[in-house]
Amino acid sequence: MSAAITGPTTGPITAPVTGSTTGPITDLDGLYRAFDALGMEGGWHRRRPALWAEPAQNFMPARWRYREVKPILEAAGALVSTEFAERRNLTMTNPAPGNIYPTLRTLVAAYQLVKAGETARSHRHTPNALRLILDGTGATTTVDGQRVPMRPGDVLLTPGGAWHSHANEGAGDCLWLDFLDVPLVHLLEPMFFEPHPEKFEPASIDAADSPLAFRREDTEARLAAAAPDATRMSERQVELTHVPGTPALRTIALHMQRLAPGVRTATHRSTANSLFAVLSGSGTTMVDGSALDWQRGDVIAVPAWRPYHHDLHRIDEPATVLRVSDEPVLRALGFLRERFE
Ligand SMILES: [Fe+2]
Repeated sequence: MSAAITGPTTGPITAPVTGSTTGPITDLDGLYRAFDALGMEGGWHRRRPALWAEPAQNFMPARWRYREVKPILEAAGALVSTEFAERRNLTMTNPAPGNIYPTLRTLVAAYQLVKAGETARSHRHTPNALRLILDGTGATTTVDGQRVPMRPGDVLLTPGGAWHSHANEGAGDCLWLDFLDVPLVHLLEPMFFEPHPEKFEPASIDAADSPLAFRREDTEARLAAAAPDATRMSERQVELTHVPGTPALRTIALHMQRLAPGVRTATHRSTANSLFAVLSGSGTTMVDGSALDWQRGDVIAVPAWRPYHHDLHRIDEPATVLRVSDEPVLRALGFLRERFE
């Protein structure tokens, strides 16, 4: 007997037969060879367990330093044009053994550079994306016909399926952080990608107050007026969303958090994966025993179910961090579990 499975391009293929089912089965080795021949496995005799007591630690706590990345990205700027590269971005690969792409299980983060005078052509794809602008003025992103300015501290959304391009009409380089749910799309397989037929989508609206943007000054004002964070995972936090109760993107929640000077935050543990991007200040995040110090522009990766807290050593300077998490995915599926200690 052979098991037939259907491949995306090659049609039906047949699983290889690795043993023989002929003859009597008289011992366990023979039984397991017979399972192999069927392309099956006994639930009590797995190569690796299918169930385990709590989330496995497949991804590692990690940090990327903006001050180390920036000169490398600028070198890429001299060698690689945006005409050659679809996007001039440097993705953050989690240091887990064997990993070659995701930053965490469902999320990928990247630094991106668009030099003065450059453009990045329009395309659209299944994955949802957002950007946090780090440096430079004069760049714009055009999302589904709305041209939106990109200014330091702004957070800009590119929902899945939306056409998007970038242009830097300013005098200096523009650098930002990208966050996408590409690894989740890889897991679930619904990837579609399409370049714009005209290369650049015409912008019909200049939308300084676009619902696709969260302006730094608006976020700062909301933070200043926010009540203390009852969870103590920050001093105060606001969710970036234009529709209360609905995350910024279907798969990604955004929380801007203010961390108080000299304060250690509560230990937080969640089945959600979190990336922290530093807008201002400096400190250390302890992630399951790893001490990761950070400053403006750095990114910290906290894998699911790893306990972590932030520690601000300086008593004269608060910090502002953007938490990017896959909480909406876990919540929608009934898988979200959290602890605060
Ligand atoms: Fe894109």
